[in-house]
Amino acid sequence: MRKNIVAGNWKMNNDLAQTETLLTALKAQKITSDAEVMVAPSFTNLWSAYNTLKNTNIEVAAQNMHFAANGAYTGEVSASMLKSVGVKTVILGHSERRAYFNETDELLAQKVDAALANDMRVIFCFGEELSDRKANNHEAVVGDQIKNALFHLDAPAFQNIVLAYEPVWAIGTGETASPEQAQDMHAFIRQTLVDKYGADVANSVSILYGGSVKPNNAQEIFSKPDVDGGLIGGASLNAEDFFAIVNAF
Ligand code: 13P
Repeated sequence: MRKNIVAGNWKMNNDLAQTETLLTALKAQKITSDAEVMVAPSFTNLWSAYNTLKNTNIEVAAQNMHFAANGAYTGEVSASMLKSVGVKTVILGHSERRAYFNETDELLAQKVDAALANDMRVIFCFGEELSDRKANNHEAVVGDQIKNALFHLDAPAFQNIVLAYEPVWAIGTGETASPEQAQDMHAFIRQTLVDKYGADVANSVSILYGGSVKPNNAQEIFSKPDVDGGLIGGASLNAEDFFAIVNAF
């Protein structure tokens, strides 16, 4: 059966000292739910985070990586570099990467392949813009994002794929998808997987919701049958708030 997962995407926040302070606060929290917990600090703080969290139930993930093994890609970080600092999970396809760094479905397919070839787990993000939803086009947009970046994979590859539906209009805005909107989309995503890979694969893939998840709305969103956790931005920068969300399951 699929796992419940709560992952904190710290985005471009926290220098080394701030990272250590937040990690210390996270270590002091107790996980009372069955959720797997992850945090994704910036590249510069991954090694520190790995060392601080290595004997805990909190995994360290990266926010991005390049598809090449190495070479002349100034400013980029490879899968093997991430693995060398203890990172086994990478977030790919976040809407901020798509919007500000021109990441396309085709590029993301290459990054997914590189991560899987390195035995890493991928949290693959996607989601529609407000204009897509207003045009009632949100399912088509999300369906295409998934198909274009992932449907070249074989079924076993999905053992290392976690999906994260993050409607762009709900990220950092304080506006969440309603629990019903999240459930409707997650059910559509799962059906998309059923159609291509069958029910066994579809039912084994965790589908996270992201976009203004807070301690006061997490429980209702997580109670929906196809919502298997959350990808948390702002609220993951506060240890108490993040663990209130982790323990909302
Ligand atoms: P917020 O929780 O700040 O809306 O961010 C969501 C997100 O983008 C997580 O990846």
